[in-house]
Amino acid sequence: MKVYKIAQIPGDGIGRDVTAAAWAVLTKAASAGGFRFEGREFPWSCKFYKETGAMMPDDGIETLRGFDAILLGAVGWPAEVPDSVSLHGLLLPIRKAFVQYANIRPHRLLPGVQSPLKAEGFDILCIRENTEGEYSGAGGRVHQGTADEVAIETSIFTRTGVERILRFAFERARTRRGKLASVTKSNAQKHTMVFWDEVTQRLAAEYPDIEVTSYHIDAMAARMVMAPESLDVVVASNLFGDILTDLGAAIQGGLGFAASANINPDRTAPSMFEPVHGSAPDIAHLGIANPIAAIWSGAMMLDHLGETEAAAAVMAAIERTTAAGIGTVPGKDKTDTITEAVLAALA
Ligand code: NAD
Ligand code: IPM
Ligand code: MN
Repeated sequence: MKVYKIAQIPGDGIGRDVTAAAWAVLTKAASAGGFRFEGREFPWSCKFYKETGAMMPDDGIETLRGFDAILLGAVGWPAEVPDSVSLHGLLLPIRKAFVQYANIRPHRLLPGVQSPLKAEGFDILCIRENTEGEYSGAGGRVHQGTADEVAIETSIFTRTGVERILRFAFERARTRRGKLASVTKSNAQKHTMVFWDEVTQRLAAEYPDIEVTSYHIDAMAARMVMAPESLDVVVASNLFGDILTDLGAAIQGGLGFAASANINPDRTAPSMFEPVHGSAPDIAHLGIANPIAAIWSGAMMLDHLGETEAAAAVMAAIERTTAAGIGTVPGKDKTDTITEAVLAALA
């Protein structure tokens, strides 16, 4: 029997609840699919930081390297640990160290879920650059605390980084409706974003079958609200992709529905699967976090592992659950109720 080694990092707040839900569904999907998961849970989190002074041990990355995939909940507990410490100590280093340069975030409406928009027929695949750009961490502060203080955060875009994410997006567009929207702000940012547009144009010549359009990020934000059905694959830099995918989550009914996969396309290291949302301190401990985003992220993990039938079965179970009106209205159903409904629908 095929066995996959999975590292679970539930993290903070609702990350713990939704990861447990996803794990229950994945385990059941595995036994129905004739394969098995060997899971190991890591307590790395803000609580771990308070106890040990680090978000993960020094050899954390090397420990994770031996796994087939990573299932993550959410990281961050800003009341106790600054986000700049917790995220730069756990989530962001994993994405970078494992070259998970493609962050795939699907946005479509599940049956029975109400969008705040009138639009229904949208199906957007956001491909977010995930290892460099605005998140490079380069910069610093001088003359701190004085009137002359200057803070600099430098975006770094490499040819390797830009080409590989755009190529990935072009290839994805080929498997879908053949449309690619590339998002920049090249009217204002004349170095990095002009460079991105140039690479997009050059690659477009290699993909004559793909209809490519470049949009400015501000116009894209409006388009996602006004005409989301006009979009197919949307590719954007790290920060722009981050913002657009919370917008994508909103139009699909809320953050509880938005799934995400941090993919290392070359398979030289494990990929990581996590919902788009964070630890939601405002609802943590209430037992009402929607686990659907995490379960859907689990389905993306199954797909990545090659267990496509199991992935389809999990997606069908999610859709049967929401079609029955369970988990569709934020805060109405308990996390456990939604999870049990998905488990029953999987049977
Ligand atoms: P958030 O995504 O945690 O919450 C934003 C809003 O969405 C909140 O009102 C929350 O209650 C709601 N929400 C989120 N997920 C939900 C779910 N599954 N079901 C129902 N409602 C849900 O964003 P935030 O408040 O900006 O961040 C909180 C913490 O999480 C911060 O420390 C932040 O840095 C961190 N964060 C981590 C990740 C990650 O680990 N990938 C992602 C985003 C934010
Ligand atoms: C996400 C999150 C992270 C990001 C934060 C917590 C650093 O918002 O996964 O979307 O911006 O990548
Ligand atoms: Mn985000």
